[in-house]
Amino acid sequence: MLVSAKEILTKAKEGGYAVGAFNTINLEITQGIMAAAAEVRSPLIIQVTEKTFDYAGGRMIYEIIKKLAEDYNPEVPVAIHLDHGGSFEAVQRAVEIGFDSVMYDGSRKPFNDNLRITKSVVEFCHPKGIWVQGELGNVPYVSEHKMEDVDWDKYMTDPDQAKEFVEATGVDTLAVGIGNAHGFFKEREVPDWKRLSKIRELVDVPLIMHGASDWEDGKAKEAIKRGVNCFNIDTNTRLAFMSTLSSEFKNSDPGIDPRPVLEQAREAVKHSVMKKMELFGSAGKF
Ligand code: G3H
Ligand code: 13P
Ligand code: ZN
Repeated sequence: MLVSAKEILTKAKEGGYAVGAFNTINLEITQGIMAAAAEVRSPLIIQVTEKTFDYAGGRMIYEIIKKLAEDYNPEVPVAIHLDHGGSFEAVQRAVEIGFDSVMYDGSRKPFNDNLRITKSVVEFCHPKGIWVQGELGNVPYVSEHKMEDVDWDKYMTDPDQAKEFVEATGVDTLAVGIGNAHGFFKEREVPDWKRLSKIRELVDVPLIMHGASDWEDGKAKEAIKRGVNCFNIDTNTRLAFMSTLSSEFKNSDPGIDPRPVLEQAREAVKHSVMKKMELFGSAGKF
C-alpha cells in the first residue's frame, strides 16, 4: 500500500532504526525491490531520478510503482520519492505526477542560493502535504574524481550551518556529507563520526545518507546509532541486476526470450535488497 515518507521516516526515527531508499528505473528492478520488502516485512522508500523520468517516462514509472504497491503488495508500506531533483521545475513535475516526497538538491550551489530555492520548494510542497528533503554539504560521484584525490573537507556538512538551513527552510529531512560518496567509491577511510553526532544534536529532522551502497556493516550500524534514519541505495541494486545479466550472456546463449534472464536479474535484485533491509534494521517492522 502507498503510505507517506513522513510515516515511514518518523517511525524509523522513533524506533532507532533506518530504512533504505532504493532507486528504480524499470519494472523488473521495482518488482525485485518490492519482493524483498514483502519477504522480510520491511517498509520501503522507492525513489526515481530525473534521468529515469527521461528514460521511462515520469508518469509511467510512478504508475508501475503505485500499481505494484497497491495491487500486488498491499501489505508493504511503500513511499514514492523524487531523488536528486535538480530544480524547482523538476519538483513541480514530480508533484504533478503524484509524488508525495521530493528531494530538492541544491547542494552544489552557494549556501544562500541553496537555502533560498529549498525554502521556495518547501513553501510549494507543504500546503500539499508533501515532504521535502534538502541537502547540505555534498556527496561526490565516482565519475568525478580519482578515488584517492577527493578533498573530503570540501564535501562535509557543517553542523551549525545545518541547523540554520533546517530552521530557515523548513525541510523535513536532511541529506548530509560525512565522508560518503556515490557509486562504489573509496569512501573516506573513517567517516567523520563526531560531525554526524554534532549534526544529530543540533538538527531534529531525520538524517539521510546518500551514497550508501558500499557501506560495510559496521559502518552502517554506527551511522544508525549516531542518528541516520535512511540510506540511499542505487549502485548495489544496479550491480546485482547487471552482473546477473552479464554472466548469463557470457555463460550461455540466452536465446530470444528475455524473460528467463530478466527473471534471474530480478531475483538477484531481491536478494541484494533483502540484505540491506536486514542490515538497516527495517526488516520485520510491519
Ligand atoms: O544518486 C543518484 C543516482 O545513483 C544516480 O542516478 O543515473 O538515475 O541519475 P541516475
Ligand atoms: P549509491 O551510488 O551508493 O548507491 O548511492 C545512491 C544514492 O545516493 C541515490 O541518491
Ligand atoms: Zn544520492
